[in-house]
Amino acid sequence: MEYMKITEELSLSRIIQGFWRLTNWEWNIKTLEEFIQGCVDRGVTTLDTAEIYGFAQCETQLGRVFQKNPALRNQIQLVSKTGIFNKDGFKYYDTSYERIKASCKESLQRLCCDHLDLYLIHREDPCFSPQEAGKAMLELKKEGLVREIGVSNFDPFKFQALNEFTEEQLCTNQIEWNPCCFEHFDSGMMDMLTQKGIHPMIWSSLAGGKIFTSQDEPYVNVRKKLEEVGNRHGVEGEVIAYAWIMYHPVKAMPIVGSSKLSRLDNAIKALDVKLERWEWYEIYTASGEKRLR
Ligand SMILES: NC(=O)c1ccc[n+]([C@@H]2O[C@H](COP(=O)([O-])OP(=O)(O)OC[C@H]3O[C@@H](n4cnc5c(N)ncnc54)[C@H](OP(=O)(O)O)[C@@H]3O)[C@@H](O)[C@H]2O)c1
Repeated sequence: MEYMKITEELSLSRIIQGFWRLTNWEWNIKTLEEFIQGCVDRGVTTLDTAEIYGFAQCETQLGRVFQKNPALRNQIQLVSKTGIFNKDGFKYYDTSYERIKASCKESLQRLCCDHLDLYLIHREDPCFSPQEAGKAMLELKKEGLVREIGVSNFDPFKFQALNEFTEEQLCTNQIEWNPCCFEHFDSGMMDMLTQKGIHPMIWSSLAGGKIFTSQDEPYVNVRKKLEEVGNRHGVEGEVIAYAWIMYHPVKAMPIVGSSKLSRLDNAIKALDVKLERWEWYEIYTASGEKRLR
């Protein structure tokens, strides 16, 4: 496994395991513990969750494992996020000073931990105050409740604004990117992160599985291209999807969302694949969304 030094104090595994879908898997604590141990055994030591996943149930289940096996907690880097809430089925965002401070403490309680390795603001909040959010995030760091801070799904304007009020301490942006999704190329975010040497965490690298299951034309075209490139390299198309993401000079860290360690192995295999530059462009243009001029 490769490890990315994202600050002087913190390195993350290049391949990260995500737990957004954990509550759908209907696992007991023993199965979850074995799965996390399987990740650690493979060198995948960074785990991603959020307070909103399973309406806090995801953090609660992870916390039961760490309570049972505190040594496991010490072997991993734990990432969580705040900012998305649900009131009687109505979704809204809250990134106010009080909410961020309270949410972090609630997450730690659920996770049965005394600190998070990385704490992110989950979504761009239209009612966002970088002054308030920045103050809360810096205080959490000073109090030792979080080691490092960052954001998720931010555009360059909101990223710069919060970075200013956190003494330039934002160390990642967790963003969506796959061969059918180019939002952060179009916003200039990828350029900004590359320039600053900030490595993004990538969610839905396989478009939530749609690249391999959807019958919609862009996904079918990408699937065929990934398989074609995979045949050239002697690996599955899924491996190529991860290799494509990791080829980019921003040095992104893909988050795997699967419940299967065999699929985590496919992401790990991608570390050994060397794509040709023209192959990267074959995949970049496969969905039809991007055309070269
Ligand atoms: N910051 C944010 O806003 C945000 C948003 C979403 C997610 N995330 C994070 O990113 C992580 C990954 O996101 P994701 O779950 O959308 O990632 P993903 O890896 O693109 O999708 C995972 C899903 O795809 C399925 N899948 C994978 N390979 C497949 C194949 N070859 N054929 C059929 N199905 C396949 C998996 O099913 P199996 O379980 O059966 O393998 C799973 O349901 C999440 O767990 C979460 O930690 C962050």
